[in-house]
Parts: sequence; C-alpha cells; structure tokens
Amino acid sequence: MKKILVMGACGQIGSELVVELRKRYGRDNVIASDIRTEVPQGIEDGPYEILNILDSDKIAEVIKQNEIDTVYNLVAVLSAVGEANPKLSWDINIGGLVNLLELARELKFALFTPSSIGAFGPETPPDNTPQDTIQRPTTIYGVTKVSGELLCDYYFNRFGVDTRGVRYPGIISNVTLPGGGTTDYAVDIFYKAIENGKFTCNIPAGTFMDMMYMPDAIKAAIDIMEADPTKLKHRNCFNVASMSFDPEILAAEIKKHIPNFEIDYDIDEVRAKIANSWPNKMDDSAAREEWGWTPEYDLSSMTKDMLEVLSKKLQK
Ligand code: SER
Repeated sequence: MKKILVMGACGQIGSELVVELRKRYGRDNVIASDIRTEVPQGIEDGPYEILNILDSDKIAEVIKQNEIDTVYNLVAVLSAVGEANPKLSWDINIGGLVNLLELARELKFALFTPSSIGAFGPETPPDNTPQDTIQRPTTIYGVTKVSGELLCDYYFNRFGVDTRGVRYPGIISNVTLPGGGTTDYAVDIFYKAIENGKFTCNIPAGTFMDMMYMPDAIKAAIDIMEADPTKLKHRNCFNVASMSFDPEILAAEIKKHIPNFEIDYDIDEVRAKIANSWPNKMDDSAAREEWGWTPEYDLSSMTKDMLEVLSKKLQK
C-alpha cells in the first residue's frame, strides 16, 4: 500500500486529488499538507501537516516519520501572478522543486510534478503540439515549468529518482477556485453564468487553449504514478489533452443550458498575451501509447456536469 504526501493540498488540484487518493489508498495513507493553518472542508477528515515547500527539514521529518513513498507536488505560483512577481515564481516553483528532488534522492520516494501548456511558447507549433518540440516560453511561469521538466528528467537519469509528470491544460473544477492563472476564465464563466446570466471575459474571442475537467486531471495524476515504468519512454512531462475551445465556443455550449446567457469582453492584456503564446491544442499520443491515457470528459459532458453541480452548490 502506498504512503502518500500531497504538497499544496489546499489548492485547486490538491483539494480534489487528496479526496480521490484517500478513496483509493485509504484515508490514513494520504497526508495532506499546505502552508494554510486552517484545513479546508473536504480534506479535514484525514491527516494534515502545515508544510512550507521551502522548509526541507520539516518536509524530511514528515516523510521519514510517515514512511512516505510517493509525493505529489502541487505547489505553484501560476502564470499571471508570476508575471507580477517573477522572483517569487522562481523561488517557489523551482526552489521548492529542487528541495523535493534532493529529498527524493536521499529518502527514495517517487515524485509527481505537473508541468503545463505554459511550458510552450510562441515558436512552438500551436496545433497538435507534439510531445517533443520547441519549448521557449515567454512567461516566468513557463520558464519554471520547462526548467522543472528538465530537472526532473535530470534527477531520474543521473540518480534514478522516480520522477513523473504531465503537462496540464487549464483545469476546470467546481470545488476550489484557481488563483492567478490565465485559464481561470473557463472556471469563472460557470459561476457568473449561474449567478448573473452574464460574463465579462478577460481573454479575447478566438483564443484557443487546451482545457480539462478536474476528474480527468486527477485521473492523469494517479494513472501516471501507477504506470509500469518499463513502458515509459518519456517521463517529464507528458502532454495530456481532452478538449480545446475559445471563449465563444464555451459560451455557446453554456447557452444550450442557459439560453439567455451572454458574454462580453474586457481584455486583460497580460493574460491575452500569455494565452496567445500557448498552444491551441496539444497532441497527447505519447501519453495514450505509453501509459494508456484516455480522458472521460469532453466539452459537452463537462459543461453539463459543471452547471449541475454548481447550480446546487450556489443555491445553498
Ligand atoms: N492554469 C495555468 C495558468 O493559467 C496554466 O497551467 O497559469
């Protein structure tokens, strides 16, 4: 049985990953951790540690005490916040990762670290973006993500650390809000559609990005860590995709359920520029071939589920 530590457990992905990991591996075998002192609802039923990714000694103590064999590292400063504070982005995203890689080398645990569509840049082929291609991102977030991919591969090749990861699209979810990202509009739009029937979008019409519904994001994280290592030709990180749309297409899908829904635009230039430098749609055939990646949700099933779940939640 695995013994797992989730770092960044109060964030958008972490808060839902902990719940699923506890279902699969047992409540007491999954330790949630974050810098937050208050444990959020939903993960308060199991073990929780206050951990700062920059505090190696405390992390080592928790890992040793609990005989952890797998760490999910979900700590990250996202793209738009990163542009406002590049040094913080580097310190947390890379400083934190290096701490974990060094600990993984010493204490011998497997490490999941996600990369992102942000690891690509304007020179990357935007359509059917290949697994192995040009990666010259123009955001500090992207710079940390490419560096992270390289560092994780380096620790695997040089020291045999079991590092694995996926390049996440924008993640759409109905539990914890994302914070400071470029793809956040694709979550906000659902809240505003239900609350006001109207949404002002900060990303221009015609800007396509890969997106994914949370259950698939969680499945990707668990499946890659369960994959047979002899089948993996790549490790850090695999393109994973399930849907690609621009704000107009998403709005049209929402209109099928809320006919009076309206979208208008007030563009955030920083986010628009970032979004424009990212792929329209990634090719995820390497993930499909090497570890059997298959998403369950498409635009239509995701939209239906988001509206159903959020309508109930917002009525309370
Ligand atoms: N969702 C992230 C962001 O927008 C991309 O990985 O920054």
